[in-house]
Amino acid sequence: MPNLRGSRAHEGLPISDASPISVSNKKRWSTLMPWLIALAVIAQLAFLGRLGNAKNATFFHSWPELFRTQHSSSGVKVAGVRNSGIRGLGGHRNSGVETCEEWLEREDTLVYSRDFNKDPIWILISGDKEDFKSCAVNCSFRSNWSRKADATFKLPKKSKAPRVHRSMESASYYEENNITQARRDGFEIVMTTSLSSDVPVGYFSWAEYDIMAPVIPKSEKALAAAFISNCMASNFRLEALMELEKENIKIDSYGRCHKNRDERVDKVEILKRYKFSLAFENSNEEDYVTEKFFQSLVAGSVPVVIGAPNIEDFAPSSDSYLHIKDLKDVRSIAEQMKYLAGNPDAYNRLLRWKQEGPTDTFKALVDMAAVHSSCRLCIHIATTIWEKEEKDSDAKKRPCKCNKGSETVYHLYVRERGRFEMDSIFLRSGNMTLKALEVAVLTHFKFRKHVPIWKPERPESLRGGDELKVHRIYPLGLTQRQALYTFKFKGDADLKNHIENNPCAKFEVIFV
Ligand SMILES: *[C@@H]1O[C@H](CO)[C@@H](O)[C@H](O)[C@H]1NC(C)=O
Ligand SMILES: *[C@@H]1O[C@H](CO)[C@@H](O)[C@H](O)[C@H]1NC(C)=O
Ligand SMILES: *[C@@H]1O[C@H](CO)[C@@H](O)[C@H](O)[C@H]1NC(C)=O
Ligand SMILES: *[C@@H]1O[C@H](CO)[C@@H](O)[C@H](O)[C@H]1NC(C)=O
Repeated sequence: MPNLRGSRAHEGLPISDASPISVSNKKRWSTLMPWLIALAVIAQLAFLGRLGNAKNATFFHSWPELFRTQHSSSGVKVAGVRNSGIRGLGGHRNSGVETCEEWLEREDTLVYSRDFNKDPIWILISGDKEDFKSCAVNCSFRSNWSRKADATFKLPKKSKAPRVHRSMESASYYEENNITQARRDGFEIVMTTSLSSDVPVGYFSWAEYDIMAPVIPKSEKALAAAFISNCMASNFRLEALMELEKENIKIDSYGRCHKNRDERVDKVEILKRYKFSLAFENSNEEDYVTEKFFQSLVAGSVPVVIGAPNIEDFAPSSDSYLHIKDLKDVRSIAEQMKYLAGNPDAYNRLLRWKQEGPTDTFKALVDMAAVHSSCRLCIHIATTIWEKEEKDSDAKKRPCKCNKGSETVYHLYVRERGRFEMDSIFLRSGNMTLKALEVAVLTHFKFRKHVPIWKPERPESLRGGDELKVHRIYPLGLTQRQALYTFKFKGDADLKNHIENNPCAKFEVIFV
């Protein structure tokens, strides 16, 4: 049965008799409850009587903890002895009495009408059919119209399915790639290079680029190489190229535009021999960063960028590139190139990330591509379907919090970016801080021996050990632009406010 916290939630947890309780069992529990509570109280009183310790009476403050039976180590059923062995804030425990946390997990569980294991996300395409084997949610891509599709790339007459627009070209060239325009055109789901699109499709990935490839000696006389196949562009890249030459920067141009070298060669292998690489995009658009930039990184040839105004978001370190933001910058960039070419120490600093590794921000960005965009599309759609059902159903009746002594325990859900199922974590009213949230997330995933989704993809030198490090935790549903760069809880009070206003709040976490 699909449920919010996911089928894996209990895997490996030492919850002896606290296995998920089905809906039909719930009824039985509620009829038995008064008896169990009575029994529990009697047993507890007897127990306390033996201890003669009145302080332990605080055990009774949280009634859900009282009505669960447990098997003691001797195999005798004992009612109502409160477990105090909650592990961390993850709510894991090692004996059998129901805690506030367990009660919440049970009461807050939703049974959705759609089980994606049996009824996969179904996307209509024009190409060959394909089942996504390794995706966190089952999804099928089909060209055959045989039932209600969840989304469509085509324009079938009968279909009311949400339409998907996918393109890796810039919006300056193709206006339909502008998100606002795409929505106006009736596309519910937009997949472009923009990190603000619903499911970004970037040029970056560990799999396609050997980003940590070693640097080789720069053997070419020319300072920079250019591979520009088309002199036309909506920006000033051609003017900049000519200006650089006027500033006496010698450029070997291999592309059709201003060609002066003619070798049939592997582009990256060629770039490796140059100190600089002209990574001139055809438009200066946010998040539009193509293979020109990433191939330069692979080659260890410092990219001189014309393109995305936010290129720093895509760089492995803040000083790993030069940026011509405006035609007026050309002269000073040319001066810098000449200076760097004559000062090996200064130049090598631009490539230090090749030894020391890129920033966490860079890793977190490229890791996104460890999950294929088609799979991310399916996760996006499946999430939307379940969220809609939650809004329409009686999900509002879920308790989502529980009193424990003088504190309130809040039930939250979290998943790693790139996965679908959500796990439970808990925060207490006395400690609703960003730090406590991070600790709760880490405790939970460490306990699960969670392996980050990017692990097999990243170059070995960047995989790290088994430790988990949180890079971002953000409310589910943000764009990647918000998640990676712009969103931040303004402090503990902001987080507290968010949790109080979003019962059973859901979060996504990015590990680095
Ligand atoms: C869903 O995915 C699981 C795991 O990959 C697979 O075993 C199962 O057959 C899939 N279900 C359908 C209906 O394709
Ligand atoms: C498409 O689906 C229909 C109904 O499910 C089926 O009869 C037909 O053979 C299918 N066509 C192809 C080309 O798979
Ligand atoms: C998209 O179009 C809107 C107006 O329709 C404009 O304000 C915005 O800057 C455009 N975005 C991009 C990335 O070109
Ligand atoms: C709050 O949580 C943090 C992180 O788990 C922990 O270090 C701290 O001791 C807690 N403070 C209180 C008052 O429980």
